[in-house]
Amino acid sequence: MVAVLAPVAPALAGGEVNIYSYRQPDLIQPLLDRFTKETGIRANVVTASAGLEERIAAEGEFSPADILLSVDVGRLENAKALGITQPIESKVVEQNIPAIYRDPDHGWVGLTMRGRVFYASRERVKEEKLSYEDLIRPEWKGRLCTRSGQHVYNIGLFANLIANDGVGEATKIVEGIRDNLAMKPSGDDRAQAKAIWAGECDLALGNTYYVGLMETDTREPEQQEWAKAMRVIFPNSDGRGTEVNISGVVLAKNAPNKANALKLIEFLTSDEAQEIYADVNFEYPVKPGLKPNKVIQDLGTMKPDPLPMWELAKYRKQASEIVDKVDFDGGPQN
Ligand SMILES: [Fe+2]
Repeated sequence: MVAVLAPVAPALAGGEVNIYSYRQPDLIQPLLDRFTKETGIRANVVTASAGLEERIAAEGEFSPADILLSVDVGRLENAKALGITQPIESKVVEQNIPAIYRDPDHGWVGLTMRGRVFYASRERVKEEKLSYEDLIRPEWKGRLCTRSGQHVYNIGLFANLIANDGVGEATKIVEGIRDNLAMKPSGDDRAQAKAIWAGECDLALGNTYYVGLMETDTREPEQQEWAKAMRVIFPNSDGRGTEVNISGVVLAKNAPNKANALKLIEFLTSDEAQEIYADVNFEYPVKPGLKPNKVIQDLGTMKPDPLPMWELAKYRKQASEIVDKVDFDGGPQN
């Protein structure tokens, strides 16, 4: 049942730590190598694209999982709600990570962040500054595109709108965006950049790191063309700031190597690890004063909305209900 964790290297003096991860192995391996070098603790990784929380729950008290690395505060909250976590009690973590990116009950800790920004056609969009609320204006009729409204990235954004504008206003904005869409929501964030490149829409919702991923994609070089056709506008930069979401970590309830797990979590909040972790996926460190990759720096300065992540998480269910209620994924109605 735990064969995937079978050790391939001889035992190290510092013991081991077992990581379940939704993050791809190449994103975390450079960090784990460094952690092992510094501490002598071997890091074993299980990666999957779904079902890790359920797996930990099913494994119960015999689960080998020490920590879970996940993306989106909604998924982190979900892990906590499933009862598979225990509090992360660490002064080091509290010093390194601002309170808005940590669960007040210590159930999860944010490690990197990304902004949900606008991808704007270089040719067809002249505006320098825009807000999420501006998207419902008549000049955007037939010009917007996005992935499904039910995707966690858009749910996070719509939850942010509820927190800032109230549920009534947020509903109007989600409806207004729906009616200004050039086509029904589909594809992922990169597909929206492609649609801009193809002239199918002018302004899209997308996460910051995909710009870096597209610009440097050598396996599919056409993505570099999509990235060139667009520029990034950081929404609401004159106001509350751009909506951000986090990747983060939870400590498993039955962690067999709890002390090592805490060492690893503390390491992930250090200056050194923060910059490497943010850099490999073109994200932002959450620890203040550190810089993202040059490609991301070149997009301009992001002013993150200071809304605490747990506040955002609180409105996710309502956001999802709005998306259903207005049939966002059905495309324009008016
Ligand atoms: Fe993504």
